[in-house]
Amino acid sequence: MDLQLSNKVALVSGSSAGIGLAIATTLAQEGATVIVNGRTQERVNQALDQIRRIVPNAKLQGIAADLGTQAGAELLFQQVPLVNILVNNLGIYGSKAFEDISDEEWMNILEVNVMSGVRLSRHYLPLMLKQDWGRIIFISSESALNIPAEMIHYGVSKTAQVALARGLAETTAGSNVTVNSVLPGPTRSEGVEIFIQGLAKDQSISPEQVEKEFFSKTRPSSLIQRFASTSEVAVLVAFVASPLASAINGAALRVEGGLVRSII
Ligand SMILES: NC(=O)c1ccc[n+]([C@@H]2O[C@H](COP(=O)([O-])OP(=O)(O)OC[C@H]3O[C@@H](n4cnc5c(N)ncnc54)[C@H](OP(=O)(O)O)[C@@H]3O)[C@@H](O)[C@H]2O)c1
Repeated sequence: MDLQLSNKVALVSGSSAGIGLAIATTLAQEGATVIVNGRTQERVNQALDQIRRIVPNAKLQGIAADLGTQAGAELLFQQVPLVNILVNNLGIYGSKAFEDISDEEWMNILEVNVMSGVRLSRHYLPLMLKQDWGRIIFISSESALNIPAEMIHYGVSKTAQVALARGLAETTAGSNVTVNSVLPGPTRSEGVEIFIQGLAKDQSISPEQVEKEFFSKTRPSSLIQRFASTSEVAVLVAFVASPLASAINGAALRVEGGLVRSII
């Protein structure tokens, strides 16, 4: 299937690693011009090299900017005034008991996970509407639906993203712009890999045992009983970004291995 992305410019926030890097790679494979972002030039350059190893003729631009801040967003807008596809992938997470999460930590997770998408969408959506074509995709999480007791602040930020995406979709009525959210489940990204390795070390067990126990005890409703790969998430995002996905708007699309026990 040709996703018809060769004349599109796509920005993927937080794409120097993990799910974002896989999305950037898949969009580049499909011929889009992709803007890769991370906080440092070094990590961005490493990601560009990694994508070029897989897609030698990739059309890429790298932007080092902390998109969890207003200043970082302004820096990006100066260098990238216009995009056709915006993937709000940037997101941070970490387990912490509710009573231990400080105001500062609440504000930080909301700033990075929610406000980054607010700022990028506020800049790019009006321009997409003016051009009468565009795609905005929020990378939320199944944690938007199943709020994890061990990171309630993260769950709240992920639910906020789904609400934001739906609200923005309402403003696109009658146009060829769509706004959707994609809800991955546990996915073997760089961040999750570090988490697994840490648990394995702490418990003196293998990473494979960590994965097995995680799915039998913490996420027993998962139907795939394993972490998804980042590319399994990226292919859905690439499809939603495609002109072919023109009738999908305002949707929350799950790629969570059947973890959410709901038939719709
Ligand atoms: N992995 C999962 O199991 C899972 C499940 C559901 C949803 N998600 C969602 O998927 C998204 C990606 O998660 P992931 O697991 O792939 O993350 P990850 O492996 O931890 O990668 C994080 C990426 O974000 C970048 N980053 C972090 N803070 C940044 C900032 N302030 N400005 C710009 N870039 C920044 C990092 O770049 P630098 O370090 O180079 O700056 C890196 O490229 C998140 O929104 C997450 O909530 C993940």
